[in-house]
Amino acid sequence: NWNMENFIADQVELIRNQVGGRKVLLALSGGVDSSVVAALLIKAIGDQLTCVHVNHGLLRKGEPEQVVQVFRHELGANLVYVDAVDRFLDKLAGVADPEAKRKIIGAEFIRVFEEEARKLEGIEFLAQGTIYPDIIESGTKTVKAVKSHHNVGGLPEDLQFQLVEPLSMLFKDEVRACGVALGLPASMVYRQPFPGPGLGVRCLGAITRDRLEAVRESDAILREEFADNGLEGKVWQYFTAIPDLKSVGVRDGKRADEWAVIIRAVNTIDAMTATVEDVPFALLQKITGRITSEVKGVNRVLFDLTPKPTGTIEFE
Ligand code: XMP
Repeated sequence: NWNMENFIADQVELIRNQVGGRKVLLALSGGVDSSVVAALLIKAIGDQLTCVHVNHGLLRKGEPEQVVQVFRHELGANLVYVDAVDRFLDKLAGVADPEAKRKIIGAEFIRVFEEEARKLEGIEFLAQGTIYPDIIESGTKTVKAVKSHHNVGGLPEDLQFQLVEPLSMLFKDEVRACGVALGLPASMVYRQPFPGPGLGVRCLGAITRDRLEAVRESDAILREEFADNGLEGKVWQYFTAIPDLKSVGVRDGKRADEWAVIIRAVNTIDAMTATVEDVPFALLQKITGRITSEVKGVNRVLFDLTPKPTGTIEFE
């Protein structure tokens, strides 16, 4: 009979049989799938696994720190942490087209990962967080986008590895249950969907460091307030985006031209259509007050009332 304990025990056995005494590499983004694969491999093969976490500067507030804390300090994994923030932001400077931004982020991710892989000796396997829907739905827009970023395809000939894909028979809810059973924190296992290109597609148009910081800080405030007010786990996806828009405002009695931040909160079953969450007005006012007082350079907060269609969930 199928249950999560049996699944984990079987996979541990299968992974040990496949890998033997050899070494495995994993690109650990901190997303649900790669995190659960990491936890499973740590249980199965311990320090034969090396995880590489690339911080491209487009993650949410606290995420790179959580990856280091959970995997290096709590689970004792071999974790290579790569600070590639400047590299990504330099490559993205001045690039306004969303698809061009996605391509640069995906290509640079593979380049950084490849460089790290070359530094490591004797790796024979590459682990991937491929799950069942990735296989059956390949060809839809979302999955294609996910693949271009998360699946480390496109590695050169001399860096071809055998694949370890222990989650390829699981649906998302089973992946989460597996993560819980392996002791991963709920904030990691139940986190809301987050695009591969990260905050890069929420800092609209050409990314600048000041707006990127503003979108990261405002998103953190939104998440904190949704959690404190019982909306975490109830609303499917919520985040802030920052358009390339300054408007006139007043701060400390003086004219201040500052950025505007947009709040988006939506519910959906399959991300093909979405409805807007009816967020209590008082909560929106509180969040607005916090963002305009705590986030540097932001004087205005807007709420997106648009369902999908006509809006997509993300703005780019
Ligand atoms: P849209 O904006 O198309 O988004 O309504 C639907 C879902 O897909 C996510 N999304 C992405 N995920 N890479 C990803 O991994 C991407 O480039 C990407 N673009 C959108 C979005 O967050 C939403 O959950």
